[in-house]
Amino acid sequence: PVLVVDFGAQYAQLIARRVREANVYSEIVPHTISAAEVAAKQPLAIVLSGGPSSVYAEDAPNFDSEIFSLGVPTFGICYGFQTMAVALGGEVARTGKREYGSTHVVLSDQASSSSILAEQPGNQIVWMSHGDSVAKAPEGFQVLASTDDTPVAAFANEERKLYGVQWHPEVLHSEHGQEVLAAFLHRAAGIPNDWNPGSIIEEQVARIREQIGGDEVICGLSGGVDSAVAAALVQRAVGEQLTCVFVDHGLLRKDERRQVEEDFVAATGVRLVTVDAREQFLGHLEGVTDPEEKRKIIGREFIRVFESTAARLVEESRTDDIPGEIKFLVQGTLYPDVVESGGGTGTANIKSHHNVGGLPEDMKFELVEPLRALFKDEVRAVGRELGVPEVIVSRQPFPGPGLGIRIIGAVNEERLAILREADAIAREELTAAGLDSEIWQCPVVLLADVRSVGVQGDGRTYGHPIVLRPVSSEDAMTADWSRIPYDVLAKISNRITNEVEEVNRVVLDVTSKPPGTIEWE
Ligand code: XMP
Repeated sequence: PVLVVDFGAQYAQLIARRVREANVYSEIVPHTISAAEVAAKQPLAIVLSGGPSSVYAEDAPNFDSEIFSLGVPTFGICYGFQTMAVALGGEVARTGKREYGSTHVVLSDQASSSSILAEQPGNQIVWMSHGDSVAKAPEGFQVLASTDDTPVAAFANEERKLYGVQWHPEVLHSEHGQEVLAAFLHRAAGIPNDWNPGSIIEEQVARIREQIGGDEVICGLSGGVDSAVAAALVQRAVGEQLTCVFVDHGLLRKDERRQVEEDFVAATGVRLVTVDAREQFLGHLEGVTDPEEKRKIIGREFIRVFESTAARLVEESRTDDIPGEIKFLVQGTLYPDVVESGGGTGTANIKSHHNVGGLPEDMKFELVEPLRALFKDEVRAVGRELGVPEVIVSRQPFPGPGLGIRIIGAVNEERLAILREADAIAREELTAAGLDSEIWQCPVVLLADVRSVGVQGDGRTYGHPIVLRPVSSEDAMTADWSRIPYDVLAKISNRITNEVEEVNRVVLDVTSKPPGTIEWE
């Protein structure tokens, strides 16, 4: 494999994903790995990620510099670049100047003969995020690029196959980022271009079989892409040992339950149990307004339903030779869920996704999460490869906590009914306008505690606003608000205010992520 060394923050997984996009298999390893451990893995190449620290900070992540002497082609990015510079005798300076965001880099004459930057425009836009800078390249290294503030923005030692860049080639804002990474993998390290999503399936099927053995397993199914693909993978791995559980928590959109019960089961033939837990969820959510509290309650109640369902399944099949408990739970957790819940190395908790940060501490299930390292579009590719039907694979994301985190204020039946109607209208019109594949998703949000004055018929109204939040995104880690045509917006607004009593105003959210998140809570 290619080893991606994780120095913290949110970078390593994104790099691993870009390596996979270059059709090369990668694995993430912690920065505490020793040279001997690296050598034992026989890596084809090593990529050092960025990180939030300064190489001179007291708590700077340590790194075994013997790794640079293993003869494995190595590419340092940002913090990884500085680590390489310091370890090999170069200099890193605290310039006091910070470069954040889009920056111009200029390639040097040597770049055209380097294996990582040859054939690239001499002047390009890259994305930077650093305080310290490399002031002097180590002996034997050629400087390949610079910026106004950074004399050494990229370097290479072709003989030792050691390379580094100060910028972040893994983010899309770096114009030629993917080409740099691909050039390192294919040209500098000579790794063939032959790995694909089908390979993820083989690896995960083997891993799942090893984890589950002959035991029974249940899978929480939401009707969304992630849990459907996770279920299909587990079904491929352990077949009849799998039972899917669909929880109707009362926070579903219109028609959702029927779609799951019909479409998914028809397509996959899995054994499905539907649990009506509406009272349970709404009871626990009564009067709760804090977003994190809502998320934790929903995460916890999901697990409580899975526990009672598992116990019931075991009870019902007592006469058969089923073991005394079901200890495995499959979840369709994706990498962005993990990062935002603060699950990466040294990442902040932005919000507790119900299936990660929202899990109760006393949960006894052992989790099976075959998609935990992947992004949504990779999951879609895996789903297609597994033969999951297109209607499911191309569905827009819908969060597990459902409409519960789209009512700003306390959740109750009445408010859910209002939001469900407004959401159905918005979805219907976006689909009719042919915009489904263009937008990533469009949360529809009810500002339940806000009222504004309106006029309808000849009378005064005092109703609630509905917010439309259409976004475009590649992986939900960042997003922009979608430029929906005005006439489509007008139609949605007109229909919602006419057809949904209690709503007298429709507003559009024009915030990107960051600074906003996609969901309001
Ligand atoms: P945010 O709001 O964090 O959302 O920008 C990023 C993506 O994740 C979805 N989302 C969730 N999905 N459980 C889920 O299954 C959750 O608790 C959760 N919270 C947010 C959101 O819809 C968007 O696609």
